[in-house]
Amino acid sequence: MVRRFAAWDSYGTMSNTKQILAMLKSRAEGNDEQFYSIALQVAAAEARKGRRTTAEEIRGAVDQARAGQSKGANIPISFAQPRGELEGLIDFKEARLKLSDVVLKSRIEHQLGDLIRQQSKRDWLREHGKTPNRRVLFLGPPGSGKTMTAEALAGELKLPLYVIRLESLITRFMGDTASKLRLVFEETLQRRGVYLFDEFDAIGGSRSATNDVAEMRRVLNSFLQLMEQPNATDSILIGATNHPELLDPALLRRFDLISEFDMPSDDQIKTLIKKYLRPLKYPRIAWKKVINAAQGLSQSEIARASEDAVKTAILDEHDVLKTDDIVRRLNDRAEMRAAFTTKK
Ligand SMILES: Nc1ncnc2c1ncn2[C@@H]1O[C@H](COP(=O)(O)OP(=O)(O)O)[C@@H](O)[C@H]1O
Ligand SMILES: [Mg+2]
Repeated sequence: MVRRFAAWDSYGTMSNTKQILAMLKSRAEGNDEQFYSIALQVAAAEARKGRRTTAEEIRGAVDQARAGQSKGANIPISFAQPRGELEGLIDFKEARLKLSDVVLKSRIEHQLGDLIRQQSKRDWLREHGKTPNRRVLFLGPPGSGKTMTAEALAGELKLPLYVIRLESLITRFMGDTASKLRLVFEETLQRRGVYLFDEFDAIGGSRSATNDVAEMRRVLNSFLQLMEQPNATDSILIGATNHPELLDPALLRRFDLISEFDMPSDDQIKTLIKKYLRPLKYPRIAWKKVINAAQGLSQSEIARASEDAVKTAILDEHDVLKTDDIVRRLNDRAEMRAAFTTKK
């Protein structure tokens, strides 16, 4: 017993003393998820040393403790708006969506399926000395479903979604942004969740909300550092931007995964419209005409056009939609888009 304890120090990334201290700290803070996470790291280290029985024992004990706890008052994952210093920095959003609610190209579906698999089997990966992927970048035009996909990812993983709007954070805390970012990252270490950094290009470096080049450099550098730090809670970090060209290349390298969202394909247009026409019937739609009218519109605009058609049908007490009902709404959206772009 004594010999094994002494040998422990020479292995793994964290010594047992550090692990015990970290466990005591998380215990004192009432952070159960962190507590179990460290226990599982110990199990993983044991497994790497070939002591599978010990590893199994620890994992079993963690499972048991978790199961016992969810019956009681303590819930390991807290679904709530962060308070105190973080208030106003992070917005909590309850994740109600699933990935099947989002119309995505198959490449993104595969990427995200893989991420979900790694995350749900993260204990297993750790046991083999691997870290599950957790840093994702969403690129693509406005209204293509980046925010929605972040929510769906949180929904699939049964985690809370926290949204950080970087542009407003930077403008609000000018000069103090780096330390606010650090606070946000500390939160990702404490509370397992999906953290969406929206308007991610705001820290890209080439565009600056403040005109203060030195400040933006500082923010970028601290973000790069914070992205590298190990995360025992395996929180998911998502950056989302409509302007990938503004991103510093050093940022791109920090992500495990980059998903590129596009304007919808013809097939996706059809799927989107069908989804948003529910619960109405659409027996004889001339899809060619509809798809034609939807060219140049984003997923979001197509969704809103379909919903408009449905609302009108409900008020007119129709339960069947015709091609023209939809085409008219799509044309309306195209007009709105044109008005908006000429104004700009
Ligand atoms: N790929 C998609 N599949 C289904 N609905 C979508 C999709 N993209 C956008 N939408 C609809 O448009 C809304 C706005 O999209 P959002 O996720 O905010 O786009 P982005 O973050 O890329 O600007 C969504 O809430 C949803 O109703
Ligand atoms: Mg968005």
